[in-house]
Amino acid sequence: MGSETIFNELMEKGVLISPELLNKNYDEKLIKNIYDFFGKDLDVLDEELINNYLKKQEFEEKNSVKIIKDYKKEPSKWNYQDFVNTFNNRFNKISSMLRTRHELAGLTSLARLKESANNQKVAVIGMVLTKDFTKNNNIIIELEDLTGTATLIIRKEGDSDLYEKAKDVVLDEVLGVTGTWLGTALFANNIYYPDVPLSKELKKQAEEEYVVFMGDTHFGSKVFLEKEFEKFIKWINGELGNEKQKEVAKKIKYIIMTGDIIEGAGTYPGQENDLKYLSVKEQYDEASKWIKKIPSHIQIISTTGNHDVGRLSEPQEKPFYEAAKSLYDIKNLKLVSNPGVINIGAKNGFPGFDMLLYHGGSLIYYSENIPSVRSKGGQKRVDLILKFYLQRRHLAPTHGSTLIIPDSEDDYLVIDEVPDFLVTGHIHRASMSTYRNVTLLNTSCWTETTEDQLKRGLEPQPARIIIANLKTREVKSMNFLSKEKKEEEKEKMEKVKE
Ligand SMILES: [Fe+2]
Repeated sequence: MGSETIFNELMEKGVLISPELLNKNYDEKLIKNIYDFFGKDLDVLDEELINNYLKKQEFEEKNSVKIIKDYKKEPSKWNYQDFVNTFNNRFNKISSMLRTRHELAGLTSLARLKESANNQKVAVIGMVLTKDFTKNNNIIIELEDLTGTATLIIRKEGDSDLYEKAKDVVLDEVLGVTGTWLGTALFANNIYYPDVPLSKELKKQAEEEYVVFMGDTHFGSKVFLEKEFEKFIKWINGELGNEKQKEVAKKIKYIIMTGDIIEGAGTYPGQENDLKYLSVKEQYDEASKWIKKIPSHIQIISTTGNHDVGRLSEPQEKPFYEAAKSLYDIKNLKLVSNPGVINIGAKNGFPGFDMLLYHGGSLIYYSENIPSVRSKGGQKRVDLILKFYLQRRHLAPTHGSTLIIPDSEDDYLVIDEVPDFLVTGHIHRASMSTYRNVTLLNTSCWTETTEDQLKRGLEPQPARIIIANLKTREVKSMNFLSKEKKEEEKEKMEKVKE
């Protein structure tokens, strides 16, 4: 008897099982994992695919790559209850993070808050239902928990730090509050985020190895920066750069990509005019041609972006297998969902580095809708938005800040565990910062800046990579943009500003 049960299960899902497999005995879990990995649009399961998967697995084991979170879901209809479940799930997960804070000891539920004596000091946790300013510019917030709602007031004439903090409160985030109950409303003394614990350590590994971070390659676009990418390929193959740069190139062990591997199709109106190849399959073939020029000992891991093929909403599964087959065939490339969590470099008792990869669908919304970020430069301060994500322990708390697919089992955009690296892309700007020992990175892109982008307020910084030294945790950027292109980019920006 072969692996009949699992093969029957797959056949019911529409997968053709190649005849050569039918009399062989495979581990059921292996076949299940293969199906999970290649996704629901897998047409044929054959020996080649199994071998390809095993080779990838062996390579990843050798490179200490572990996938912690890779979103995968059988297609299903969703309804209102799924939204309710997602929000309840978020509330439960984030409130349990907040409960560990000693400032919030003696928590009261919102239903019981109203039974408090006048002037009583209280602590509550709630999700932000509404937020407004009164005519005296006090901030009035309606909080909700699983028991009810309550009104929270932050006075303009009170603590100015608290007032500034409250201005940045966004809808649907889960907060802790301490304050005084004054009969009809809670007057805040302080606001608490779930945040990153102060005890988060800065992990460093013993060996000097490097990780390159890049993204938004947009292969298949007419404005792909081919010459620049070629320079990158030469450098990473040890054929370009000064001695020190060549030394670093030799020690690169991983490349992390933040999605938008291809330019895609149908992402915005008129996109067909910007495409070198109309079909996404051809675009992925082009991507694969370039990616194969990266030395094959380097492990590449890529999340998925809104230009890639598949569902646009977050969490977003990795690109569909049938379109992106040429990428799945590359032994040293691993694709994960958006967001996705991986761990690299665990060995000899060292736990490795957790990396949360998020393409960044909500970055633009928050660059415009967090007052302190907007006033300090919006998208140019992506570092502040990444800090905001970590403090809120959520990648898109406000409903509508990104396209979200509700999931009745989990709010997948909650940051359950604090990563060592939080890496995003999407707005095409290179940014490096640190918050409480978490490295915050946003990657650059490999396309020329278009007038359309500039008119939409984007100011990309193309053709850069970020390099992290895993021994020292230092990060640096490297710019591959040619002199002529730099001039061209500058001119474009000046033209739009006129
Ligand atoms: Fe992009």
